[in-house]
Amino acid sequence: MDSYNIYKILLIALFSVALLVFISLYFITAPYGRHFNRSLKVSIKARAGWFFMEIPAFLVFLFCFLLGRNELNIITFVFLLFWLFHYFHRSFVYPFIMKGGYKKFPIVLVLFAVVFNSANSYVNGYYLFFLSEYSLSWLRDPRFIVGVIMFMIGAAINIQSDNILRNLRKPGETSYKIPRRGMFKYVSNPNYFGEIIEWSGWAIATWSLSGLAFALFTIANLMPRASANHRWYFDQFPDYPKERKALIPFIY
Ligand SMILES: NC(=O)c1ccc[n+]([C@@H]2O[C@H](COP(=O)([O-])OP(=O)(O)OC[C@H]3O[C@@H](n4cnc5c(N)ncnc54)[C@H](OP(=O)(O)O)[C@@H]3O)[C@@H](O)[C@H]2O)c1
Repeated sequence: MDSYNIYKILLIALFSVALLVFISLYFITAPYGRHFNRSLKVSIKARAGWFFMEIPAFLVFLFCFLLGRNELNIITFVFLLFWLFHYFHRSFVYPFIMKGGYKKFPIVLVLFAVVFNSANSYVNGYYLFFLSEYSLSWLRDPRFIVGVIMFMIGAAINIQSDNILRNLRKPGETSYKIPRRGMFKYVSNPNYFGEIIEWSGWAIATWSLSGLAFALFTIANLMPRASANHRWYFDQFPDYPKERKALIPFIY
């Protein structure tokens, strides 16, 4: 099978997985972090889990760029920088600064994420560096401008919100507290909100099926978990702010 056929099959698989994940996560909450299930015996440390889950996304995309047949222009260079920035942070920074990196993380989720991240990065990288044909006029296209702005705002919200969560715990602490700073005033999961804005911006800026598949997967994965986290906060803290929404300020 040639690389183009692999791209087509994986693209269809990503759309299908997004749908399956969306439906199943409303019945089962992915068992990591506050929802970790102690009956899951085969686990690794969360720090190692995050590192191994995310690094394929960095490497596979980088290989697509290095092997790609398209000449790099300013547009594909921006996309390359955005992707590598996100996944450099997620694989080489986030796991090493997280509090509670020694907590258990199920190996089955790590395996799923390795497969998903590899396929997703291949599909997005293959599209950009083998198939896409952006001319320089794309720089002035409203889809590129709006998408790029969304990506940057989403990344900033995501990183800021993860920082706020991290600073809630003193070194060695594992307990949970009510976050009150930044966008936590409005929603229980601003880090997920930022992540969704980020990849929706990617889909719009690249105007590609591969970007759309990833944005839909991110929504399918994080929306049910945001609801589960929101319910969990109300169960744990009687004084949890009633006006706070789960994911989208003032709406949901
Ligand atoms: N693109 C995608 O599909 C996707 C999927 C999953 C995650 N992500 C991203 O990966 C990052 C981490 O995701 P996550 O699901 O682990 O996020 P999370 O549940 O919000 O947890 C993030 C970190 O903050 C800690 N934390 C959470 N709530 C806390 C509280 N109330 N008090 C003290 N500490 C708290 C967690 O500790 P514990 O580990 O001890 O709970 C964890 O270390 C996020 O930026 C998310 O957007 C992306």
